Amino acid sequence: MTTPVLFLLNHTRPLQKTLGVLGDLCRDRDLWSIQVWVCPDEELLRLVTPAGWEALTGHSVVSERELPKYLEQKPLAVLCQSWRKELASLLAHSGVPVLILGDELPPGLPPGSAALPEFDAMEILQRLEQLASPQDFAGKTVLVTAGPTAEDIDPVRFITNRSSGKMGVAIAWAAAMRGARVLLIHGPMTTEVPDLPNLERFPVRSAQQMHDAVRQHWQEAQVAVLCAAVADFRPDYYVPQKIKKIEGEGMVLHLERTPDILAELGAMPNHPFLVGFAAETDDVEINALNKLRRKHCDLLCANDIRKPGSGFAGDTNQITIYAPDGTVLALPMLSKQAAAYRILEEIAKRI
Ligand code: PMT
Repeated sequence: MTTPVLFLLNHTRPLQKTLGVLGDLCRDRDLWSIQVWVCPDEELLRLVTPAGWEALTGHSVVSERELPKYLEQKPLAVLCQSWRKELASLLAHSGVPVLILGDELPPGLPPGSAALPEFDAMEILQRLEQLASPQDFAGKTVLVTAGPTAEDIDPVRFITNRSSGKMGVAIAWAAAMRGARVLLIHGPMTTEVPDLPNLERFPVRSAQQMHDAVRQHWQEAQVAVLCAAVADFRPDYYVPQKIKKIEGEGMVLHLERTPDILAELGAMPNHPFLVGFAAETDDVEINALNKLRRKHCDLLCANDIRKPGSGFAGDTNQITIYAPDGTVLALPMLSKQAAAYRILEEIAKRI
């Protein structure tokens, strides 16, 4: 389902900039499930005809006369390019959140209204996503681990795995959108972390460093989602110089266990609501239930990493959620963002 948003446009900024941002929003509208409607003032309508605005947005322009009727349909938000005093009363009584771009926020606007200092498409889209999301994690801190860890052998070589960090970052993003303060502890991953005011990131490299960062922060969190693919083994000795190969000889690498962060957290009294993951190739259900019990999780999300489209690196995942009371929720194949939202819904029901 797509949600309409309305832009009140006037000629207070360079037209080129306005068109650039609108173009970016319209290009990504399907991805973000929004419809872009515009209400340009008369001066702008002289510069770009209604047909021009319609070609850009895919919708006919809303005239100022039609505004009250349009607002009755409850768009997700009204975006004001600058504050319009003459519309103050109409907007205040509409119940629709108002986002003011590059201006101060006047008092008396509906809940969710905010001032955005920059007229930037990404910032606008993030704010819209936040408005579309339930704020059921407001006031809560969610700790998330994401990505792989890297276990160094020597200054050149290391052991790691295929995790891109996409699933963990999707969970961190979704929690931030739903109002949480998010602590994202992540290994050396290829996925970019969004810049959000309520998301703090703690980059680490090894399982030991991830363990130490979690130990340092878990007491701040009411929820912990451990999605990282933590290396189970590391070389028992780090060689500080590059290991030289010897002609005709192989090499034996001695490995030792890394700390099991999830199991350690599960054993703590008063641990946060604990969500584990399980990346399995066989006997998915047996292994998942075993991890749920053994590591004292409140929920366990299993993915069968042999299934095409599921698990490491891709943009989709098929997850089955297990709870200690025997509840099993098999989600369909979803984008990692959608899967993250579903996981958070299950957490929200239980905290
Ligand atoms: O990052 P992506 O490319 O998007 O891929 C997503 C994913 C496949 C990595 C993710 O969906 C996933 O399954 N993450 C957990 C991977 C994993 O290590 O599973 P596991 O079955 O080996 O570990 C079980 C649980 O214990 C996990 O919550 C893990 O974070 C935790 N663990 C494991 C070992 C360890 N030393 N410490 C831990 O905390």
